[in-house]
Formats: sequence, C-alpha cells, structure tokens
Amino acid sequence: MKDTGVKEEVSILYQDVIKGLQTDQKYLPSKYFYDDRGSDLFEQICELEEYYPTDCEMEIMRDYINEISDWVGPGVQLIELGSGSSTKTRLLLDHCQNLAMYVPVDISGSFLKEIAKSLNHDYPELDIHPVAADYTTPFDVPDSDNVEKRVVYYPGSTIGNFTRKRAASFMNAIGENLSPGDGLLIGVDLKKEVGVLEAAYNDSKGVTAEFNKNILTRLNRELDSDFDVEQFQHRAFYNSKKGRIEMHLESLADQSVKINGDLVSFKKGETIHTENSHKYSVEEFEEIAGDYFERRKTWTDKRDYFSVHYFERV
Ligand code: AVJ
Repeated sequence: MKDTGVKEEVSILYQDVIKGLQTDQKYLPSKYFYDDRGSDLFEQICELEEYYPTDCEMEIMRDYINEISDWVGPGVQLIELGSGSSTKTRLLLDHCQNLAMYVPVDISGSFLKEIAKSLNHDYPELDIHPVAADYTTPFDVPDSDNVEKRVVYYPGSTIGNFTRKRAASFMNAIGENLSPGDGLLIGVDLKKEVGVLEAAYNDSKGVTAEFNKNILTRLNRELDSDFDVEQFQHRAFYNSKKGRIEMHLESLADQSVKINGDLVSFKKGETIHTENSHKYSVEEFEEIAGDYFERRKTWTDKRDYFSVHYFERV
C-alpha cells in the first residue's frame, strides 16, 4: 500500500474504500456512514414519519419492559452494541434490577462521550463504562466482581446490515464471548409489505438521501478524495430475492474520482452499494442465531413490523 502519510485508522478506511471501489459492483461498508454528521442524520431518520423501526421498537420496549427486564434479570452487566443515543436503553436502565454495569459500545467516539455524560448525569449511581470501538472487530469489555450475568443488547435491527452468512458468524462471535446462561436481547426488523419497506428508506424530506450521500462527504474530508456529491443520487429498493433493502449511490454521469492518488471511474447509472438492511421472519432469525443461542421469548409491536428477541446463550 502507498504511504498515505496519515494515521492508521485512516489507512484502514482508505484500504476498505479502495477495495470496495475496485470491484465489479462497487460498494462501501455501511459502518462508515457514522461520522458525527452521519450519526446526527441517523438520529433524524429515526424521527421520520416513514421510518417505522424506531417507533415500533420503542412501542415494544414500552409495552413489555417489565417482562423484558425480568428476562434480563438482576445484577447484570449490560453491553450495548452500536449504542448511538441510547434512548431505548434508558427504559432498561430504569427497570433492570441492580444493574451491575452498563457498557455502551459505539464506533463514534465523540457521540459516545456526549451520551455517557448525559447518562452519568441522569443515573449517578450507575457504573457506566463506554467503549469506543468498532464492535465488528474484537474489543475488551471491562470486568467486575459484582457481575452475575452478562447480557448483550443489540437494538435497532443493526444486525440487518450484515449478510445472512455474516450475521450468523457475528452471532457466533458474540456467543463465543458469553457463558451459558448469559443473554442476548436483540431488535430485528421483520418482513412486511414492500411499500412500507421502501417508503422507510425513501423519506419525503430526503434525510435518508442526505445520510447516504454524507458517506462521500466524509471520504472527501478524511481521505484526499474529490467526489462531486451532487453527481450521485440516492437509491433504495427492496431486493425480495435476498430479503433486504439495498441502498446505493447512483452516478449521474460518466465521471472519475481521485482518491489519494488513485483514479476510480464511474459510468453514468453505475452504483456504489452502500448498505443492506435485511428483514427476517422470526424463524429465519432463530436459525441465524441458532449455533449458540436458544430463543426464549419474542415480542412484536401491534402491526408485527418489528421484533425484539431474548435469546439465552446455551
Ligand atoms: C441502523 C442499520 C438499522 O438499516 O434501517 C436507516 C440504517 N439506513 N435508514 C437500517 C438506516 C437507512 C438502519 N440501521
């Protein structure tokens, strides 16, 4: 690799970007959406009329919080993956008995710091250990004597970003790091009418489009690239064969882009695949988690759009 003259994290970004843009179907890893601006835009997506997952998951958490916190149990170390703004977590923090420790893990360090600050203020008794990490790669979880049980909380259907195969190996990686009796509380978006799905990723205010395009702005800032963001258009559609929403950025012209010395060219109409958001039936997801986990309980919202599962590590 060329000497980019920049920090190691940036070189990893650079390598991932070059790898993704030098294959036939160009792609960018969706985790790179979440710089400060991207995290903020995602929060705005969650408030959109069309984006049902946040409301549905909140509805489930509110309606069933007593049952859910019973399944989580007392004296637990709660490890939240991709904690974002931790809104749903507050319900758990309010209801779980004698929570031993809360460990929010997020890729956006500055976002995490702000959240930890506000949680520390609202929950002065709680032991909070934020971990700034890309949780798709190994990271350390703080140990403590008063932890009786560990529960991984993975809300938001972020698991849907992985392909089925990678989702299964990610579930296995979590399973390997837990002990029998530990738990996994996970939010998973369900299969539903295509119209509802596609509207959620093509909102009328264009926030999702901005979120999608922001990844190029980020690359321009963090790598030495010169994407003309206006020359790319947001595309989102349901791929029914693969059971997933796909987001792409479609090139509006024949163009080439310089990335730290490399030249990448685009045909008009060619796309960069930026995200997958897989939708699962309860049975499909049970299968995916099945190597280490047994499903103990599933809650859904009134419309059956979204599911929250409690799995036990066996
Ligand atoms: C955070 C991955 C669950 O897939 O629905 C929202 C991200 N992308 N709108 C999703 C997202 C476009 C979201 N996840």
